[in-house]
Amino acid sequence: MFDLEQWSRTHLDRVERALDRWVTAEIPSGLNHGAPAQLVDAMRYAVLDGGKRLRPLLVLAAYEALAESPANAEDGAALRAACAVELIHAYSLVHDDMPCMDNDVLRRGKPTVHVRFGQASALLAGDALQALAFELLTPQNDTVAPALQARMCGLLARAAGSAGMAGGQAIDLASVGKPLSECQLRQMHQLKTGALLQGSVMMGAACGEPSAQVVTALKTFGAALGLAFQVVDDILDVTADSSTLGKTAGKDASNDKPTYVSLLGLQASRDYAQSLLREALDALDASGLTHAHALRALADMVVNRSC
Ligand code: IPE
Ligand code: IPE
Ligand code: MG
Ligand code: MG
Ligand code: MG
Repeated sequence: MFDLEQWSRTHLDRVERALDRWVTAEIPSGLNHGAPAQLVDAMRYAVLDGGKRLRPLLVLAAYEALAESPANAEDGAALRAACAVELIHAYSLVHDDMPCMDNDVLRRGKPTVHVRFGQASALLAGDALQALAFELLTPQNDTVAPALQARMCGLLARAAGSAGMAGGQAIDLASVGKPLSECQLRQMHQLKTGALLQGSVMMGAACGEPSAQVVTALKTFGAALGLAFQVVDDILDVTADSSTLGKTAGKDASNDKPTYVSLLGLQASRDYAQSLLREALDALDASGLTHAHALRALADMVVNRSC
């Protein structure tokens, strides 16, 4: 029987240590100004001490499903990818919470970055986290083969950009107060959230040597899981409380956002999340992968989580 808790402990520890090490820009010596150091403070505040780290875990689980032996190289490509995707996610949260977007004051159980550091610093911290993600994927030593570096950058850029997370966020903002069709809502969720989760799976897989069959199956897995994640986020916004979530509950209704709950109601949204979980697990079965226990358990956790 696969023990997700034990597996996660080991990997979360690696991810936390790596993030702590990497989210520390080298401020050039002789730079006669404290501002860049304050910017790094805001970046560290945004990234460290909080979050489920689901995206890094997906990267590492997908890598393990492909790899001959468990991922254990401290500075290996998979660990870099795991941290890079978390940096993009953290930046997206910092910007998502700003007054010009969702206007939230609580994130990961703490005041949001713009509340703590001001809006301009929050904007810059997000910018710098995005840049740092790509820096991690392109180490200056030769620990990651150039072709793999390029592949990883492409996957992450596409997941994060206008055809991915940022594009989905644009749809989200343009949809305030508007009823969306199920097809429109699905597309918004696939982009704003699904793309980065699917990208995490594909980046982890890219560190191994996936066959065409595995790539196709993992794309389907990642898409179903990514959409399910945001459906559950919509549900929890209604059913959980702020202290459990570490962010303000009930925010979607108060911001007049179209969500799965507003469109389908609670029970149909729950049923839909379960059907997406089945779709994701079926795709794993079709992949032929024999070491996909962690991916399987993470998918189950995404849909059946309480925070
Ligand atoms: C929150 O993501 C934002 C969405 C995409 C719904 P998470 O629920 O993964 O947030 P953390 O990383 O655990 O804080
Ligand atoms: C945000 O979706 C998705 C991102 C790209 C950050 P939400 O706005 O629903 O995320 P929460 O509920 O604030 O975490
Ligand atoms: Mg939002
Ligand atoms: Mg939000
Ligand atoms: Mg939400």
